[in-house]
Amino acid sequence: MSYENILVEQRDAVTLVTLNRPQALNALNTDVLRELGEAFASYEADSSPRCLVLTGSGDKAFAAGADIKQMADKQAVDFYLEDFFSGWQTKVVQGTRKPWIAAVNGFALGGGCELAMMADFILASDKAKFGQPEINLGVAPGMGGSQRLTRAVGKSKAMELCLTGRMMDAAEAESAGLVARVVPHDELLDDALKTAATIAGKAPLAAMANKEMVNAAFETTLEHGLGYERRLFQILTASEDKAEGMNAFVEKREATWKGR
Ligand code: CAA
Repeated sequence: MSYENILVEQRDAVTLVTLNRPQALNALNTDVLRELGEAFASYEADSSPRCLVLTGSGDKAFAAGADIKQMADKQAVDFYLEDFFSGWQTKVVQGTRKPWIAAVNGFALGGGCELAMMADFILASDKAKFGQPEINLGVAPGMGGSQRLTRAVGKSKAMELCLTGRMMDAAEAESAGLVARVVPHDELLDDALKTAATIAGKAPLAAMANKEMVNAAFETTLEHGLGYERRLFQILTASEDKAEGMNAFVEKREATWKGR
């Protein structure tokens, strides 16, 4: 498939997707979101790639938000009819069962921060900046910022960021729990690809189940979540990969995963 607003490359078992509108700081217009949805749908449907990295092109931005120029003349009726930010594209990205990482290489603002927060985790360059500045435009987050940011950093900081529109740097984002790790800017992509390769080398069913159970922690009570975790664990013990993984440990050799 060919794309105009994103780049998609296969690096062994890792898919690298790069938002590619550097002249607009990778702002998310409807074409970018459609192509992103298509790329994620292909990733999900193909069993060979086992982890995905999403990053931004250029040196400045992951994504500076939804495309303000595209939204400026849109009427409320259009936003409503299109169910803006909740189309199939966003659902595909949010609903991906296979693992993926956001490698945030610069500004992740508004929809850019919200897109990064849809990832399983965020790796940030030490130049990254995060924020939900929609209030400066007379609006509010529309792609999950008020919910995911609050779950990630707690009410007080999320509220402060949303109400003031200020940006936080990578160190603050890491200490607040929004990002998994901060790495030097020039090493971000290599680090993200290596991390993705590590995940791609794990048993695929186990990767999906780990992702599913961690995400369940945000949706349910502790008791229900613990039960959900146990059931998934028990189901995994029926897999060929469980037998292979445990035998390989006992036999002191590398496991060969089948994804079955
Ligand atoms: N939409 C469209 N174009 C954007 C953009 C956006 N979100 N962010 C930046 N650009 C464009 C600029 O218009 C500019 O284009 P021109 O050269 O054609 O004028 C180009 O990218 C470079 O931007 P700047 O000259 O502004 O770069 P800077 O380094 O001076 O500032 C910035 C960088 C602080 C990130 C600034 O660009 C900025 O504040 N951008 C907007 C951030 C924002 O408000 N994001 C939230 C959008 S709303 C949203 O996302 C809703 C939602 O919840 C889904």
